[in-house]
Amino acid sequence: MCFVMALYADLRLKLNTAMSSRQIAKRKAAAGSAWDSHLDASRAYILKNLGDANKGKVVILGSGHLFDVPLVDLSKAFKQVVLVDVEHPKSAKKAVKALGNVKLVTCDVTGINNQLSQQDRPAPCPPKDLLADADFTVSLNLISQIPLWPQDYLTKQGKHSDETINTYLKSLIQNHLDWLKSAPGIKCVIGDQEQQLCNKGKVFHTEDTLFGLELPPADETWTWKIAPKPIWDKSCDLQHKVCAFRIE
Ligand SMILES: C[S@@+](CC[C@H](N)C(=O)[O-])C[C@H]1O[C@@H](n2cnc3c(N)ncnc32)[C@H](O)[C@@H]1O
Repeated sequence: MCFVMALYADLRLKLNTAMSSRQIAKRKAAAGSAWDSHLDASRAYILKNLGDANKGKVVILGSGHLFDVPLVDLSKAFKQVVLVDVEHPKSAKKAVKALGNVKLVTCDVTGINNQLSQQDRPAPCPPKDLLADADFTVSLNLISQIPLWPQDYLTKQGKHSDETINTYLKSLIQNHLDWLKSAPGIKCVIGDQEQQLCNKGKVFHTEDTLFGLELPPADETWTWKIAPKPIWDKSCDLQHKVCAFRIE
């Protein structure tokens, strides 16, 4: 394996294990203000797109620590705010206490994580009723996270080729987009589509985080400086290309 690939494999491994909701606060703290522009852009895109929505119910998928969620604005604008994550950290539980119209829903949006040990590559089964009466839904910095735990599980299991695993992981993201498409109201996706290794502002390696899945054209793109050096490596920065679009 060439040096760049070896470096990348190592970074990817660390990043995969690092992006659970439990770890994300640590990563943010380590990056200091480097995340600010990404968090600002995520919040601004949400606020820009809620204008046309009926103001009954908003659902945020992948709410985590709420770093990228304009929670107070959403709570003022909508009758009900639903925050969805596999795991709600203490910080989120605390933040919603003060707001009477915000509900936390704990669930896996793919519906497969509990099935993986019982079935071979189970078909995704997103929570049926979660979006049934949503006026505005945001998949928030989640699409590249969806495959991580299944990828880890299937790779450790050692039963399938990388190609078979990657095809399955891609189908999980596609199913997430199809699920959003089938929902009523306005649907937005903010998510990263590419990891980049960068030295002195120059990208020297890129990796598709969506296993070849093509997304609809983006309204906006920006860079998430997720791990400036020396967080992951003393010689390079790790960053994500983030895109934001509506699902029509
Ligand atoms: C990169 S974080 C998004 C940032 C988050 N909004 C924050 O401010 O902490 C991705 C979030 O998606 C959640 N997540 C990952 N896979 C999920 C799944 N299958 N179902 C629901 N939530 C998931 C993680 O727990 C994490 O909180």
